[in-house]
Amino acid sequence: MGAVTVITSGKGGVGKSTISAGLGCALACRGKRVLLIDGDAGLRSLDAMLNIDQQVVFDIADIVNGNCEPIRAIYPCGESVGLSNNLFVLPAPSRERDVLHPKVMKRLVDILAPYYDHVLIDSPAGVGRGFASAVAAAQRALVVTTPSPVCTRDSDKVRQLLNQMGMPIQRLIINRFHKDTFYKLNQYEDLDTIIDRTGIRLIAVVPEDTALMGDIPEAVTRVMNNTIQRFFAPKNSPGALALHRLASRLEGENVPLADFQKM
Ligand SMILES: Nc1ncnc2c1ncn2[C@@H]1O[C@H](COP(=O)(O)OP(=O)(O)O)[C@@H](O)[C@H]1O
Ligand SMILES: [Mg+2]
Repeated sequence: MGAVTVITSGKGGVGKSTISAGLGCALACRGKRVLLIDGDAGLRSLDAMLNIDQQVVFDIADIVNGNCEPIRAIYPCGESVGLSNNLFVLPAPSRERDVLHPKVMKRLVDILAPYYDHVLIDSPAGVGRGFASAVAAAQRALVVTTPSPVCTRDSDKVRQLLNQMGMPIQRLIINRFHKDTFYKLNQYEDLDTIIDRTGIRLIAVVPEDTALMGDIPEAVTRVMNNTIQRFFAPKNSPGALALHRLASRLEGENVPLADFQKM
């Protein structure tokens, strides 16, 4: 039975989809079989980030409505990163009103999870129906925040909601961290203050990194000398390395957090 993790936040645009896609690649690079479920009905973005948007015919709602077998709505998407047998995307419905009821979502994920090592669910912003659906099937939640007071406050609200829903494991990801901006804005004394305000244990700090903007497969690979060089090679971008560390920590390895002073 694969570990089911929801990537969530109170605020939109904090990097949930970027982290879901990048973390999926990182886990697949480790040889894990990963299913990425796009929970953002209406706005779906994982298919585009992983370059399979042109192939998408069926989505998660088609499975539960009996329009197709599950396998036909699950798209392999790792070909360009050399992960074709490991990384899969189950797209969200194109209409927001087709978001799955939490109980239906849980039943479906329970059926799919045994075929994967990891199921990652990319949650929509906010705490409405889409959030409840995305969270329902998960055993643990990664709450994404940026180092801004508004975002941190929303993360605290999300933690309270997750507690009410009985989510047993919650971890914090501070995304888009940039040392100079952080100290210049002087909104927080240090990262510990953010962790205290959210009340969630830290699992990763992901730096602001242009390599993580836009096309994820392009960001996560470099083609050199006709061979695909995995983006997690030591030379690669700080953002990519942070996601690699996050993948290790999710798998229970004792890997230190990245050095914030260098971000
Ligand atoms: N660590 C990062 N460094 C630079 N840009 C980032 C980072 N994380 C996210 N972004 C950018 O922020 C924007 C919003 O990210 P996205 O993953 O779509 O957020 P969400 O899913 O939370 O709405 C995108 O343009 C994305 O490229
Ligand atoms: Mg998103």
